[in-house]
Amino acid sequence: MEIIRTVDRLSQILSVAKEQGKTIGLVPTMGALHDGHLSLIERARRENDIVVVSVFVNPTQFNNPDDLRTYPRTEEADCIKLDNAGVDIAFVPSVEEIYPEPDTRVFDLGPVAEVMEGAMRPGHFNGVAQIVSKLFRMTRPTRAYFGEKDFQQIAVIRRMACIEGFDSLEIVSCPIKREADGLAMSSRNVRLSPENRKAAPAIHRILSESVNNASAASVAEVTESVIKQINAVDGLEVEYYQIVDADTMQPITDWDATRQAVGCVTVYAGDVRLIDNIKY
Ligand code: PAF
Repeated sequence: MEIIRTVDRLSQILSVAKEQGKTIGLVPTMGALHDGHLSLIERARRENDIVVVSVFVNPTQFNNPDDLRTYPRTEEADCIKLDNAGVDIAFVPSVEEIYPEPDTRVFDLGPVAEVMEGAMRPGHFNGVAQIVSKLFRMTRPTRAYFGEKDFQQIAVIRRMACIEGFDSLEIVSCPIKREADGLAMSSRNVRLSPENRKAAPAIHRILSESVNNASAASVAEVTESVIKQINAVDGLEVEYYQIVDADTMQPITDWDATRQAVGCVTVYAGDVRLIDNIKY
């Protein structure tokens, strides 16, 4: 595996690969790698000749300076994991390399970016669109891989890819990887206190149970019940729970109004903000 820190070197290596007709799989990450990331990498490995993993804590997508400051950074351990996973290129640029000057682009991301995370974290999705569009332009991948834990993010990236004309690039969404007790894997989990780590699996348990009860209840009733049950767990506090259309991300009021409904939740466990979702 080659660790690359500059855009020039990345372009140089990838243009040779492209001349040779090789396919390129890109897995964008912010590091602090866990088995969820490794499952994306495994899939990229199976489906492409060359696998590029970017490790970059993107400052423009953090609307909270404390969140950016405390975001786990484990570059050395990450590179060992990437090497062991058979990655060809770890792209680990500095902030200056990615943003030699401030990125002032404002993307017209539309309704998919206005609800839930978009409403709670102003500017977050614009920052995601900035970095992912840069990574797409720098690597020109055949396929790019994203985890469904950040379900709304995938819809936003699809929208960005559409408006930026990345038409030939396939965006691959991959299922959530969970700990044995059901907690969705996340780089933020390492910041959970032991008590909150014990409480956190209740999120997935309650969401799963709500799917079984959905046939006998309205969307509003299911929403209310999920919020109530999670808030009843010591240490957990729901920020939002919304049941939305899986394509448009718009809240639904009637189960029949959509092909696929997804319930998206964010929960504070102490000061750690956890995110999860479930399909109905
Ligand atoms: O999901 C993430 O880890 C980030 O939002 C991403 C897609 C790597 C962009 O920084």
